[in-house]
Amino acid sequence: MGLLRRNLKVLGTVMMVNLFIFILMSRNSGQDKNEHQKVHVPSKPFWAKQTPHQAYWNHQQQILDLQHNPIFAANNSALDAKVVDWLNDTGLKLNPCQPDFRVPTRVKDFNSLPERYKDFLLYMRCRTYPLVVDQPHICKEKPFLLLAVKSLAPHFDRRQAIRESWGRAGLMANQTVATVFLLGNATAVDHHPDLSRMLRYESIQHHDILQWDYRDSFFNLTVKEVLFLDWMRTQCPDAKFIFKGDDDVFVNTLRILEFLKGLTGPKARNLFVGDVITNAGPHRDKKVKYFIPESMFVGTYPPYAGGGGYLYSGDLAHRLHNVSQRVALYPIDDVYTGMCLRKMGLAPEKHKGFRTFDIEEKYRTNPCAYKSLMLVHSRTPQEMIQIWSWLNNPDLNCQ
Ligand SMILES: *[C@@H]1O[C@H](CO)[C@@H](O)[C@H](O)[C@H]1NC(C)=O
Ligand SMILES: *[C@@H]1O[C@H](CO)[C@@H](O)[C@H](O)[C@H]1NC(C)=O
Ligand SMILES: *[C@@H]1O[C@H](CO)[C@@H](O)[C@H](O)[C@H]1NC(C)=O
Ligand SMILES: *[C@@H]1O[C@H](CO)[C@@H](O)[C@H](O)[C@H]1NC(C)=O
Ligand SMILES: *[C@@H]1O[C@H](CO)[C@@H](O)[C@H](O)[C@H]1NC(C)=O
Ligand SMILES: *[C@@H]1O[C@H](CO)[C@@H](O)[C@H](O)[C@H]1NC(C)=O
Repeated sequence: MGLLRRNLKVLGTVMMVNLFIFILMSRNSGQDKNEHQKVHVPSKPFWAKQTPHQAYWNHQQQILDLQHNPIFAANNSALDAKVVDWLNDTGLKLNPCQPDFRVPTRVKDFNSLPERYKDFLLYMRCRTYPLVVDQPHICKEKPFLLLAVKSLAPHFDRRQAIRESWGRAGLMANQTVATVFLLGNATAVDHHPDLSRMLRYESIQHHDILQWDYRDSFFNLTVKEVLFLDWMRTQCPDAKFIFKGDDDVFVNTLRILEFLKGLTGPKARNLFVGDVITNAGPHRDKKVKYFIPESMFVGTYPPYAGGGGYLYSGDLAHRLHNVSQRVALYPIDDVYTGMCLRKMGLAPEKHKGFRTFDIEEKYRTNPCAYKSLMLVHSRTPQEMIQIWSWLNNPDLNCQ
């Protein structure tokens, strides 16, 4: 009896709530109808005029947005004089790969910035450098997975360990895997010894080195990203999936292939997974490697996948390449890729198999800890080989 009464009470409450929602909704749709009856057509442009941003990157982005604005592209006279002046500001007639000597007058604390910031700003508009070592046949057999590893000329042992372990090219788990190492030039300016002959030898031995002639520095990693996307468009356009990461990570390629095998349709086409960082912004502490001065950038960062390594589809790589031309280069490469994704209306997806901040110390020597992971940072060449042999041991039995 008591139960029945309680049920009736619950039923009554549910009906009251439904009625309330119904009243709310009918009121709202009533409002919509009224709105439809009187449409305001503005007689003047109803957008606010932009003023140039004080921060250099933000201003460069405003200029790129204007240049690609379809309204202005159709009617140039709709631009006011000041905006036209901004467009000239990009130095349409200047060679973007010559140092831009107008920058020091436009970044207010330019002279007090550390050298690497000056170098970045002076060459910020340059996106093309000559490819000096290519592997035009590397994707002759269409790869299911292309592993693109950011490396530096002197890291011979890391590259060799990757070749002998997780980056072994050829058939893996019955899928075609291709591996390339992305290199710039370790220049004499940075006091690097001349390694060019050793690199040439390595390249002839392994046919997996891509090298562009630009200074391989931390702030030029974004250049590496756009150069790679451009290379991929012409030399490896049919790669189904791409892993891009550092040469000091361990990648469980077997686990990645297993994960990719199950993907189809839009899920596969729009794939972008990694260790995603959200709600981040520029570091303002000068002592941090990632410090960005306010004169350079203001704002927050979009969600981005940590540059240690992320996985995405070949289809998305082509779209990233396109959209990157409309996003001003930013000195931190993984943030830049996040900016490009945001421009496309996408966000990277977090996958807990990507451990760019490593796993708990007590599990690091446990073979089974690696079985279900996709990436761990960081590992030495010796550790890569050790972990890979664990994972490939047929006697490894993990529950
Ligand atoms: C182009 O813009 C100008 C200035 O805003 C305007 O007067 C003109 O009608 C526009 N022309 C077209 C074809 O839209
Ligand atoms: C800017 O460029 C436009 C188009 O090339 C040109 O008509 C205009 O005179 C230039 N303005 C200045 C201030 O150089
Ligand atoms: C490997 O792939 C080929 C061609 O895609 C297929 O015919 C074969 O059955 C596969 N073998 C295994 C073990 O999955
Ligand atoms: C790279 O730097 C070296 C000096 O470290 C220099 O000799 C060489 O010309 C540069 N370019 C290439 C493509 O190696
Ligand atoms: C990036 O590479 C270019 C070309 O070698 C160089 O001029 C520039 O200084 C580099 N930028 C940084 C931040 O190292
Ligand atoms: C990239 O842009 C070009 C030219 O605008 C266009 O033809 C092509 O379809 C675009 N590709 C993708 C994948 O969006």
